[in-house]
Order: sequence, then C-alpha cells, then structure tokens
Amino acid sequence: MIFFLLQFGYSNLILILIVIGVFSFFLGKFIKHKSLYPFMPFRYDFRKRRNTYKRVLSLLNEINAKVIIETGTSREGLRGAKSNGAATIVYGKWAKLNDAHLHSVDISEKSIRVAKQEVEKQNLSSNVTLHLNDSVDFLNKFEGKVDFLYLDSYDYTNDKAQQLLSQKHHLAEFIAIEDKLHQNSIVLIDDCDLEGGGKGKLVIEYMIEKNWNIDMENYQVLLLHEKFSS
Ligand SMILES: C[S@@+](CC[C@H](N)C(=O)[O-])C[C@H]1O[C@@H](n2cnc3c(N)ncnc32)[C@H](O)[C@@H]1O
Repeated sequence: MIFFLLQFGYSNLILILIVIGVFSFFLGKFIKHKSLYPFMPFRYDFRKRRNTYKRVLSLLNEINAKVIIETGTSREGLRGAKSNGAATIVYGKWAKLNDAHLHSVDISEKSIRVAKQEVEKQNLSSNVTLHLNDSVDFLNKFEGKVDFLYLDSYDYTNDKAQQLLSQKHHLAEFIAIEDKLHQNSIVLIDDCDLEGGGKGKLVIEYMIEKNWNIDMENYQVLLLHEKFSS
C-alpha cells in the first residue's frame, strides 16, 4: 500500500513538474514575443526592432508623412519579421493606410523578387515601388522631399573589412539624399547595436555634426533634426 501511494505521489509530482515546465516555456515565449499588434497581426515577432518601429509609426502619423524611402528591401517578406525586420511590408502598410508612398531600393534581383511577391500578397502594390538599383545611385537621382528615410542595405557581418564598407555605404546613402530631407524628416538606421558600431557608426557621427539628435537608441537608432517640431 505504502509502495502504491509513493508510486502515485511520484507520478503526480512528475506530471505537475512537466505541466509547470511546459507552461514556463510558453510563458517565456509569450513574454519575448514583440508584436506590433493591432497594426500587424499578432503572430509576427519584431523582437529587437519593435519599440523603434512603434515610435516611427507614431511619428509618421504626427508628421503626416507622404514619402518614405527604404534602402535594402524585405528579402524574406513578412517571414523575416524577426530576422530582417520586414520593414517594406510594415511601412508599406502604413503608406497604404495613410495615402503615402514607400520606395524600397535593393541591388539584388532575388531580394526584389521575394519582396514583390509579399507586396502583392499584402495588396500593397499601389503604395509601394520596388527599385532594382544600387541605393546610393538611386538616392542621388531621387527627386522630391523625403519624410522618412530608413537605411538598411549593405550587410554588416563579423568581417572587419566588410563592416567598414557597410558603414561607409550607409554614410554615402545619407549624404546622397541629405538635401532632400527637411526639418521634420525621420531617419532610422538598422543593425546598430553590434560589435564595431554596426551600420550606423559613421553616418550617426556625421548626422550629429549636422545637428541631428538621437531620439531613440536600441538595436536601431532613430534620429530627428534639432529643429524637428510636430
Ligand atoms: C538586411 S536586408 C534588408 C532588410 C529589409 N530592410 C527588411 O526590413 O526586411 C539588406 C538588403 O540590402 C541589399 N543591399 C546590399 N547592398 C546594397 C546596395 N549597394 N544597394 C542597395 N541594396 C543593397 C541586399 O541585397 C539585401 O537585400
């Protein structure tokens, strides 16, 4: 009898521990999950970019943005929400809801092809134009004012030489479009909180000298001009 009770007790204990383990696992997942709900469906996890995206979405409303440029397009579509950010779809959706336009430029045919499929699937084609080009060339030729500039092109890896090339490229992008920005423009730079300073190292130094202030600094860095007023 005692043996039976002990057996019964142990199996219950094990069951309870399993239930607690499974519950903690899903609770942990839920806490780490950073969605943009209700703007985007809850299942998409924007993780380290969620808070800067939220701030940008609110600023876009404040300034009533009409022209958005993204360098480096969503090469994985919405599937890449957690890894790459899926910005083409997030800001493309904002553009659609607010009668604005997003231009996203990418040097890779494959990235453009995948992004195009997602843009079409999300029914954003009338508010999103994908451009196959080098971003600096595209920005140099762009006509008209830019309300929101998102820099996220040349990949930043662990290779020191490539890191410097990426940083120089993002600086060149900003310089190419600088005169099309205005005092209420928003600039967001991706992949900054990385060893070596990330994509934004040189461009942020340059912008600060040109009277831009850091508004928010996480994995991404958000900058506004010192004369920004909304
Ligand atoms: C990290 S992904 C962009 C992710 C995207 N912004 C998102 O939120 O999903 C970087 C992209 O930059 C592109 N790229 C690299 N060098 C470039 C250049 N010189 N001009 C334009 N795009 C470039 C790559 O082909 C790649 O598709």
